[in-house]
Amino acid sequence: MDNFLISPKEVKEQLNSTANGYLLVDIREKNEYSDWNIKGSLNVPVNDLISSGDFASIKKHLERLPKDRMIVTICARGINSQVAASILREMGYNSVSLDKGMKGWNENFDIYRLHFDDFDVVQFVRIGKGCLSYLVIDKSTDQAALFEPAIFIGEYEDYQRANGIHIKYIIDTHAHADHFSGGMELARKLNLDYCISEIEVDKVFSFKSLKAADEIAFGKTRIHLISTPGHTDGSISFLINNKALLCGDLLLLESPGRPDLARTKEETTKGAGILFDTLKNLLPGLSDDTMIFPSHFTNTDIRPVVMSLKDLKANSEPLNITDKREFINYITSNIPVTPPNYETIKKFNKAGVIIPLDYAEDLEIGPNRCAARN
Ligand SMILES: [Fe+2]
Repeated sequence: MDNFLISPKEVKEQLNSTANGYLLVDIREKNEYSDWNIKGSLNVPVNDLISSGDFASIKKHLERLPKDRMIVTICARGINSQVAASILREMGYNSVSLDKGMKGWNENFDIYRLHFDDFDVVQFVRIGKGCLSYLVIDKSTDQAALFEPAIFIGEYEDYQRANGIHIKYIIDTHAHADHFSGGMELARKLNLDYCISEIEVDKVFSFKSLKAADEIAFGKTRIHLISTPGHTDGSISFLINNKALLCGDLLLLESPGRPDLARTKEETTKGAGILFDTLKNLLPGLSDDTMIFPSHFTNTDIRPVVMSLKDLKANSEPLNITDKREFINYITSNIPVTPPNYETIKKFNKAGVIIPLDYAEDLEIGPNRCAARN
């Protein structure tokens, strides 16, 4: 803790500990808070009052807070929350501000390692952003394939170093719209190819195009590539030793991925139809024990974020719709509003442009909205 700032990592660790004595106070306005917040935080909306300098009203709102807890104030980018923390200290509270606010909260990862016969899957859960990335590690060689890397590439480098593994492949299932890919930057750093379907990107930078029905093999691990269009035209899923499916945005635990991004209304309807065909072709060929690893999550509390196909079928309404027209209607009738920066982020990812971390974090602010329904 420095200058009355607390790092996102320290807050995460404190929340996960049994001795948690922190009270998280989110000062953003009600609508912003209800759209996206840290679980367990309390909303005391004084952000606008701080901007207008109405300090008497601010104190009235804050004086209801308990005095026996460390108050961590939160706003979108960690500016006004510093003012709130300062006012609280003046009022006799112990208070610090979450460094970089919700933007900083997006930097946090929880890591889970799941064991299969010949390989392990390491799931990196970006808890604020709802993004998932993966290392698939072959046990016989300690070689690994990295899927869906976020821009915080140090997370994967640290894991590689600490666990004595060697990343050999860097892969995106498709060009994402909700977050910046760290794939290009990490591939350059490790002198590897950045792999993605050529349908997904502008051919203006160096990448290796993945093709459906290809196989990636290392040690005793065989990764079968399956074309799974719908969310995007060039989406690819990866079936590992017939036991685990990394499916990108095809199947999130909440719902299939939205088919409308960067598409017109007609294209969206067509995309939903393609999604139906993809699922109809794919699912009967998979064992019910196949573990489904999505690339995002919205509301689910399941950790790690994974489900067997059997459980997913039992829990997912759209997977049980057999009529194509009904499925299209289900998928397209309640798609969430597209967050403002999705178009920009996708353009950068398609062009393979590496942008400064701080700018990327700024554009990524907000909840995950990749599911067709929340
Ligand atoms: Fe996506």
